[in-house]
Amino acid sequence: MKKFFSLTLAMALMIFFTACGSSAQNSENKTAAQATSSTAAENKSTAESADAAKKILVVFFSRTGEEYSVGNITKGNTHIVADFIAENLGAKTFEIKPVNPYPDNYNDCTELAKKEQQERARPAIANKIDNFDSYDVIYLGYPVWWSDMPMIIYTFLESYNFSGKTIIPFCTSASEHFIGKEEIQQYANGATVLDGLGIQGKRCQDDPASVKRDVDNWLKKNNG
Ligand SMILES: Cc1cc2nc3c(=O)[nH]c(=O)nc-3n(C[C@H](O)[C@H](O)[C@H](O)COP(=O)(O)O)c2cc1C
Repeated sequence: MKKFFSLTLAMALMIFFTACGSSAQNSENKTAAQATSSTAAENKSTAESADAAKKILVVFFSRTGEEYSVGNITKGNTHIVADFIAENLGAKTFEIKPVNPYPDNYNDCTELAKKEQQERARPAIANKIDNFDSYDVIYLGYPVWWSDMPMIIYTFLESYNFSGKTIIPFCTSASEHFIGKEEIQQYANGATVLDGLGIQGKRCQDDPASVKRDVDNWLKKNNG
């Protein structure tokens, strides 16, 4: 009988210590997991502060006057999108201004743009970005002209050294499609070019609130 009790006691103690051991192990694992997750959180917040420290500039080219399907406009479609991006990011904007302004008349402008495209022209830019080297990220916006970027955007890409910079393009056009990523990659030497946003120009004039919503969602995806 005594032997039976000692055996039972021994087994009970064995079970008790095994349980303690595994619970201690669990709590060690938990502490390790907590440490890992707090390191991950620290890394995330370091990455976030590095992102926050990144200097961003929103560059755009946009035309006023008679425009496709919107009549006479006093603020260009791409300009409207650029301002939404800058407002969201608290960034500065830079408008690319041509030395020779494009005609207000839509047909005249399309003819000139076609000629420039055929000649692979490099229309001169009247203004320059101060302290270009200090920017890490350039949002670059343009209207679609003859299924391409306006030639003045190529002038812009060839005017600066983009090495080590990130370019995030956006465009407006008759539809919601985006074009230009490959071309920018080809001409902006050394830049990392991210996927772009395409917005229908008409919507910028008729329903800017919906454009702002799309821009905000796109930026959230880019920075999330
Ligand atoms: C010269 C010229 C060429 C255009 N070519 C196209 C085109 O090929 N495809 C298109 O979808 N829209 C085209 N459009 C329409 C513009 O891309 C659209 O209206 C754009 O939103 C204008 O932007 P902005 O106001 O910022 O200049 C063209 C407009 C102009 C003036």
